[in-house]
Amino acid sequence: MTMRIVVLLDCVGDARPRFEASLARAGFEPEEVTVDIIPDGPTRPKVDLHRLVSGASAVVTPLTLPVDRAFLDAAGPQLRVVANYAVGFDNIDRTACAEREVVVCNGPPPMTEPTADLAWALVLAAIRRLREGLDLARSGTWKGHEPRMLLGHRLVGRNLLVVGAGRIGSAVARRSIGWEMKVSYTARGPKPGIEAPPISAVRTTLEHGLPEADVIVVTTSLTDETRHLIDARAFELMKPTAVLVNVSRGPVVDETALTAALTEGRIFAAGLDVYEHEPRISRELRDLPNAMLLPHVASATVEDRTDLTDICVENVVAMLSGGVPPHSVDPPREG
Ligand code: GLV
Repeated sequence: MTMRIVVLLDCVGDARPRFEASLARAGFEPEEVTVDIIPDGPTRPKVDLHRLVSGASAVVTPLTLPVDRAFLDAAGPQLRVVANYAVGFDNIDRTACAEREVVVCNGPPPMTEPTADLAWALVLAAIRRLREGLDLARSGTWKGHEPRMLLGHRLVGRNLLVVGAGRIGSAVARRSIGWEMKVSYTARGPKPGIEAPPISAVRTTLEHGLPEADVIVVTTSLTDETRHLIDARAFELMKPTAVLVNVSRGPVVDETALTAALTEGRIFAAGLDVYEHEPRISRELRDLPNAMLLPHVASATVEDRTDLTDICVENVVAMLSGGVPPHSVDPPREG
């Protein structure tokens, strides 16, 4: 029986030839597997998507697509793998996948470094008021150098708190060496990789870490436990000079509380790549000069997104050929 792979987005680097080469290497004949690519998948109506995935053995999904019970039922019982084109997978109902023995895969390795880079771009933009500076330089109203104009804060030697230090958070911590920062982090378990010199990071709690932090970078994944982890109370603990950066998922930060904290000057600035209700960003937040806003582009480099395409291909082809996908979200079952 012919198997179907349905790719519900326009992967960078062109998924089709990569699938064809990988399937051939795994010993599949061309007529055994078809690859359907739906480049505008993310914008198709649900009913359309459900029709398109019907009968698929594998789907490659964008992070904006909810993979819920209705989606899985529409695909049918032959579905074996959902390969998310992302490191995050909060769009996928893992319980519903597990019930149907559908394996969920993601692609962490190429997402780590570009996301850490962008976190630092936002830190620098926020602490040095880049948005106001760029606007002024372009406005034609700049009157010339003034000693008090657009004062930001010093970064060298300050305290960095990484909230939810996994791969990305550890890469953020590594990059702080150049600024000789004191690093602390929160995580479920210790991270020897960043506790060792030269980073010498110290594991802490939000309660202890937030009042000390000058720069707070949120990299934790979104789960029921981390939704609104940074809430009104967390903002009360922060310094008025603190900078908050979020490159994880919007709902980890209570956006209403953040907007109030920025408006009232209870923190200095924020750098955001992600939002609670993407793609909607509230008017209040958009108007704030101390909010550096980017449209969820942390991993957006040609090289890294192309590598992510290769990982999705590997995940799918490994599953279809009875192997173990290199990046499944849940550990393979025993036996
Ligand atoms: C981006 O947000 C990702 O999860 O890869």
